[in-house]
Amino acid sequence: MEDQTFISSTQTVPDPNKVPRHIAIIMDGNGRWARKRFLPRVAGHTRGVEAVRGTIRAAIERGVEYLTLFAFSSENWRRPTEEVSFLMQLFIKSLQKEVARLHENGIRFRVIGDRSRFEPTLVKAIEAAEELTAKNTRLHLTVAANYGGRWDVLSAVNRLLAQRPGLAEISEEMVNTELSMNFAPEPDLFIRTGGEQRISNFLLWQLAYSEFFFTDALWPDFDGKVLDQAIASYQGRERRFGRTSEQLVDAAGGEVERHA
Ligand code: IPE
Ligand code: IPE
Ligand code: MG
Repeated sequence: MEDQTFISSTQTVPDPNKVPRHIAIIMDGNGRWARKRFLPRVAGHTRGVEAVRGTIRAAIERGVEYLTLFAFSSENWRRPTEEVSFLMQLFIKSLQKEVARLHENGIRFRVIGDRSRFEPTLVKAIEAAEELTAKNTRLHLTVAANYGGRWDVLSAVNRLLAQRPGLAEISEEMVNTELSMNFAPEPDLFIRTGGEQRISNFLLWQLAYSEFFFTDALWPDFDGKVLDQAIASYQGRERRFGRTSEQLVDAAGGEVERHA
């Protein structure tokens, strides 16, 4: 069988009864979780790391292959300096603390986003973690940090233009190969915690046909139970990718090709 990894999920219809191969999450609501307890916002970020740990475990138990977590957006630099630097330090500390455990559990770790604004200690910690876990395949864990969906698409296009100056046209496939998540199928399921219903410049290109699940649960409260609710909701959807319901029923049992 053809390797499905690089095939856009807009071309084939994955079986929605199965556990989603790729889940992408906007981890939102840390600040509100803390404020509700009369704690400083950053206490919510610290608790958020616990929720990340639990979510990784739950995703592995359920057989998810790709888990992508939005940790810091390209717009989050607009926050107060103290909060930004707390988040950066927390990222470094968590990496140093968790990397061995990630590796022991067969997790491949990657970071997507623009690293040029990170301090050298953080860049080094990321590179070391990526290198250590490079051969693991049990779960592809990707953290989006200083990530923006528009940045991702524009960087892809600019790289293509730099490789072949004077290029007259750029195809979807060419962009796909240059995006920062070129190693993964598109997310089947997108989850946002914290009650907000927006993409906030996350994986704009790759979410074209993902199923969306919004929950009021604040990120530090996210756990296997909420993950199961999201997966159950996903499994009740019909992914049509532009087709009619009847076409999908006719083809049940086999994968529907885009132009079939
Ligand atoms: C998400 O929680 C974490 C980051 C964006 C780093 P927030 O910090 O946005 O929490 P709320 O939305 O203010 O509650
Ligand atoms: C989105 O959350 C980014 C992350 C979770 C990292 P925000 O809390 O920054 O999103 P907006 O600004 O409310 O849309
Ligand atoms: Mg928020």
